[in-house]
Amino acid sequence: MNILVIGSGGREHALCWAISASPLLDRLFCAPGNGGIGEVAELVADLAISDHAAIIEFCRTQKIELVVVGPEAPLVAGLVDDLTRAGIKAFGPSAAAARLEGSKAFTKEFCARHNIPTAAFARFSDPQAAKAYLGKTAPIVLKADGLAAGKGVIIATTPAEAHAAVDDILGGQFGTAGREIVIEEFLEGEEASFFVLVDGTHGLPLATAQDHKRVGDGDTGPNTGGMGAYSPAPVMTQEMIDRTMREIIAPTIAGMAAEGAPYKGVLYAGLMITSAGPKLIEYNCRFGDPECQVLMMRLKSDIVPALLASVDGELGDFDLRWHDEAALTVVMAANGYPGDYVKGTEIRNLGHAAEVEGVEIFHAGTRRDGDKILANGGRVLNVTAIGTTLAQAQARAYAAVDRIDWPEGFCRRDIGWRALGRSSG
Ligand code: AMP
Ligand code: GLY
Repeated sequence: MNILVIGSGGREHALCWAISASPLLDRLFCAPGNGGIGEVAELVADLAISDHAAIIEFCRTQKIELVVVGPEAPLVAGLVDDLTRAGIKAFGPSAAAARLEGSKAFTKEFCARHNIPTAAFARFSDPQAAKAYLGKTAPIVLKADGLAAGKGVIIATTPAEAHAAVDDILGGQFGTAGREIVIEEFLEGEEASFFVLVDGTHGLPLATAQDHKRVGDGDTGPNTGGMGAYSPAPVMTQEMIDRTMREIIAPTIAGMAAEGAPYKGVLYAGLMITSAGPKLIEYNCRFGDPECQVLMMRLKSDIVPALLASVDGELGDFDLRWHDEAALTVVMAANGYPGDYVKGTEIRNLGHAAEVEGVEIFHAGTRRDGDKILANGGRVLNVTAIGTTLAQAQARAYAAVDRIDWPEGFCRRDIGWRALGRSSG
């Protein structure tokens, strides 16, 4: 079959890499793709992912039988709805189901309706009311309601910071995503990302992962889209997985179906493992980026039948096999990220770096210019490795990083520290 992947990040490179290994595949396309994805898929760089009619037209011309939508924006914008109406199979949630990511307020109220454990919250559009509610509470978490690329969250450690954050968010720093502010109780614990493949009624847990959101070593500095990740996440024991499925995922799948918006696709639960058990921080309606990269490294089974089973509602008796090995990915970003950075700098020695045993280099923000690979975004490369232990995966990933010649880029040097510190290595 012919498959089209929508997106241009490291997540889509990893998805294309996994799909390209499927014996079911004839031709793989990616729109718009990036400098690395071109090695495993045919790039359709001029197809605008906001132009649903053009995507449908492309699918008809190229006889696409499955579209896999990577990022949240086209899901929230209803691309899967439009493709489905046009009779084209598309992997991912409808716009109504993607509200689990698209609107934090929707999700918080949904959790309240279905008794799903999450942080206490309140929402405001008026800064005075928000500040009155805050009073002197700290630490406290403040979020822009809409999509803000993972950057619309402020953890205020003092009341003054909390009040300033209200002004920033409602004052338009996050554009229309900040028309409303959600104020949340600060949850204490260890975070984990939990991924479940859903077909409307059944949930199949995928592997667990943990990402590092802060830009600096030791999890310091501003939040980013993710500076690295590893899988499995040791904090997610089998008992915690079972509890999460029972207390959070199952009521979500049942609740969405009961409310007329059955969920299909990947349901990504951002969890805080607290002393009282797992609590939902947020839902995302897609694979995590860079968590997807480590999941794809560990997936043993063909991914294509799993994606089709999600679309077709056939996950009930489906199973996936995983490598026991651990995987770890280090994000290389352009100097300055998550603030201002320059594009267009040249990255050398990628071929040599990829020769390190167990290593795959997924491109996040690159473009090809003749023989050259140029940086073309904030997060640029995902240097990913598999190993019999997490320590080995980490050593391999950094060995590859050290072979890459790119003075205008940087990475964290401590990806995996929390899990390695547990000495489970
Ligand atoms: P979100 O975009 O909602 O995932 O938030 C980004 C990051 O902020 C999360 O990964 C957590 O590290 C942190 N965070 C969000 N909400 C809370 C909360 N209620 N308590 C503690 N940390 C939080
Ligand atoms: N790595 C965090 C995310 O994909 O939202």
